[in-house]
Amino acid sequence: MDKILIQGGIALDGEVHISGAKNAALPILAATLLSSEIHRLKNVPHLGDITTLKRLLEKIGAEISEKDDYCEIQVKHIKNNEAPYSWVKTMRATILVLGPLLARCGEAHVSLPGGCAIGARPIQLHLMGLEKMGAEITIEHGIIHAKAAKLKGAAIYLETPTVTGTETLMMAAALAEGTTTIENAACEPEIGDLANFLNHCGAQIIGAGTDHIVINGVSALSGASYEVMPDRIEAGTFMLAAAITKGDLHLKNCRPADMISIIEKCRATGSEIRVEKDALRVLGKEIHAVDLKTLPYPGLPTDMQAQFMALMSVSDGASVITETIFESRFNHCAELRRMGADIRVEGKHAMIKGVPRLSAAPIMASDLRASASLILAGLVAEGETEIRRIYHLDRGYEAIEQKLTDVGAVIQRVKGKA
Ligand code: EPU
Repeated sequence: MDKILIQGGIALDGEVHISGAKNAALPILAATLLSSEIHRLKNVPHLGDITTLKRLLEKIGAEISEKDDYCEIQVKHIKNNEAPYSWVKTMRATILVLGPLLARCGEAHVSLPGGCAIGARPIQLHLMGLEKMGAEITIEHGIIHAKAAKLKGAAIYLETPTVTGTETLMMAAALAEGTTTIENAACEPEIGDLANFLNHCGAQIIGAGTDHIVINGVSALSGASYEVMPDRIEAGTFMLAAAITKGDLHLKNCRPADMISIIEKCRATGSEIRVEKDALRVLGKEIHAVDLKTLPYPGLPTDMQAQFMALMSVSDGASVITETIFESRFNHCAELRRMGADIRVEGKHAMIKGVPRLSAAPIMASDLRASASLILAGLVAEGETEIRRIYHLDRGYEAIEQKLTDVGAVIQRVKGKA
């Protein structure tokens, strides 16, 4: 298996081009199933998770071709309305095909995702919403069987604001008969991006990106040309790379308006952040200890928690990080401790006492954002850090070694045996 080697101690300096958002591109790709016409998608990042979904869409019937700067995709016919376990276990976001398949062909058979490294990750709210829209749902032998000759608009209340749940229901409702309302919908900007894409295809969705979404179903959707929004978590990760190395990074092609909580928290730790149009300049200075708590958008994203943990590991004091979204998203703590971090975890809280320096060690990535946090730690540790299981990283960060190398990091991937 490949590993990454990082030489710590270099202040990063230069420009980073932020890629398209993984968590917007995934639902948008799934939504192409809703129409038989051609879609042209720009700014789709080249990532492991995106490739997985594209291959599944091909099995379902999509024809996909990669052009110079866009991806063309058309699903003339649904050949196969199944997503078996072999796909869902590779990437749980494949569940995003459930709503569109059901809406497009009245039937879908999708393996029920299990838990993953960061928590149990139930999807009962996705299923409850589809049932409210008239779907008949059964689960047998680990497979969700969903049927509905025609989905009907419904009033849906989500007990917890779920991101992929809101997306699933929005996609299904786009082709339902009548009006669907989703109350306590998740407000993440990626949901707004999916709705924009669907509206470009002729859907009638109002309020996506707020907790009250109204979808007036239409009888058919067209194809669309669309550019996926920038990745706010990738931008946030590079922001913290500047902060932790006390460097100076200019992040191009990001959307600061979607990143207020990340910007404000990073500022509170001592970095200077200049907000520009579609860009951010981050100048790392002192690293002060601050408490932080993950929350649904517009709160601090859980997808930034591990990276902030790396930063707090070398802060000037004590901080408490509270994870409120996923119950076991602290896997990176044990690895950071191997590098000399002083972290104690109790339930959903991690108590971190900043140390003057981290020291390089062989460490192991456990999930996508944990990998990013270990990279950040490696960038400031004394010596050469070796990170294993980096396939997690490749699922969500496009060309990360190249981007870091371009701004001065000494980082290399060593190919290993499969
Ligand atoms: N939840 C329920 N019931 C449900 C669905 C969710 O109780 O039916 C709970 C979850 O247990 C969790 C909370 O709701 O406590 C939020 O989970 P959500 O469903 O919003 O997460 P998700 O849709 O599975 C997406 C992102 C994650 C990101 C979370 C939270 C995608 C493809 N994935 O997951 O991204 O952490 O929202 O923002 O959009 C990542 O990119 O590394 C990643 C894990």
